[in-house]
Amino acid sequence: MLEQFEKIGKDALADLKKVIDLTSLEDFRIKYLGRKGQITQMLSQIGRFPAEQKPQAGQLANKIKKEVTEAFEQLKNALLKSHQAKSKELIDVTLPGIIPNIGKTHVITQTINELLEIFGRMGFAVAYGPEVEDEWHNFVALNIPPEHPARDPMDNFYIDDNILLRTQTSTIQIRVMEKTKPPIRVVAPGRVYRPDTVDATHMFMFHQLEALVVDEGVSMVDMKTAIDQFIHAFFGPDTRWRFRPSFFPFTEPSAEVDLLWADKTGKESWIEMGGCGMVDPNVFDAVGIDSEKYTGWAFGFGIERLAMRKYGITDIRLLFENDLRFLSQF
Ligand code: DAH
Repeated sequence: MLEQFEKIGKDALADLKKVIDLTSLEDFRIKYLGRKGQITQMLSQIGRFPAEQKPQAGQLANKIKKEVTEAFEQLKNALLKSHQAKSKELIDVTLPGIIPNIGKTHVITQTINELLEIFGRMGFAVAYGPEVEDEWHNFVALNIPPEHPARDPMDNFYIDDNILLRTQTSTIQIRVMEKTKPPIRVVAPGRVYRPDTVDATHMFMFHQLEALVVDEGVSMVDMKTAIDQFIHAFFGPDTRWRFRPSFFPFTEPSAEVDLLWADKTGKESWIEMGGCGMVDPNVFDAVGIDSEKYTGWAFGFGIERLAMRKYGITDIRLLFENDLRFLSQF
């Protein structure tokens, strides 16, 4: 009988060596340690031994049971561990998290927001207008006559005879004055479209910031002060700029605003930011504002130029290629 006990113990340990996963481990448990398992059965047979052999049989059976149970528990722990390591559901809350890729606004949007904030502090409201415009708002009301070269189909994206993609945000001046009585003090950002050949400084689409002030007694001094304050707020107090005499059909007198720009080598040159001037009386007449009573000033600046100057970007195409390596720098 006792040899039989020894054999069960040996078989059990040999079988345990063949266990490779939790399923075969459970088979092993049922075979040896379950309610009808061989080791459990073995223990229940001790009662059948003659009294003088019982202690020896009991001792042996318990020793075998202890040995097998310990080996079984050890293997079970090892298998559970490796099973958990393999399981995909396992979440280790102590690991550092995955940083999500959070988007941000485009550098042109950032620039527009900054411009609106600066002009907001100077008391300007914000106006918007449509990108698909009629000739009245893009040309006629702005005192641009039919024979003016700006109306050439080669220089405009016409949709039909009278409708085109706006070439300038000055259209919004007209839309604001048609609806609002002076005093007027607005800035208007937006996209404009021109069939230009694309190169480092030209695009078929770009952004402008338009400004319009209309009131009694408004003079060029007001315009110069506002532009000066804006340039120093946006580019820094040491930035130098100048007026250069120019011509626009919708302003008289007209000027261009140039900024002094130093390249990497320190070489300085004047860069044009946009046009400005005193609103032409013909424009007031077109929108029904009394040109004897009111005067006004306006400007239209290129937003890409402002951003490029501020951030040292030398090629406008970079702004619209949507390369994240470029855009994420801002
Ligand atoms: N609209 C002009 C352009 O696109 C820029 C401009 C010049 C706007 C003078 C103005 C202005 O408001 O007064 O070239």
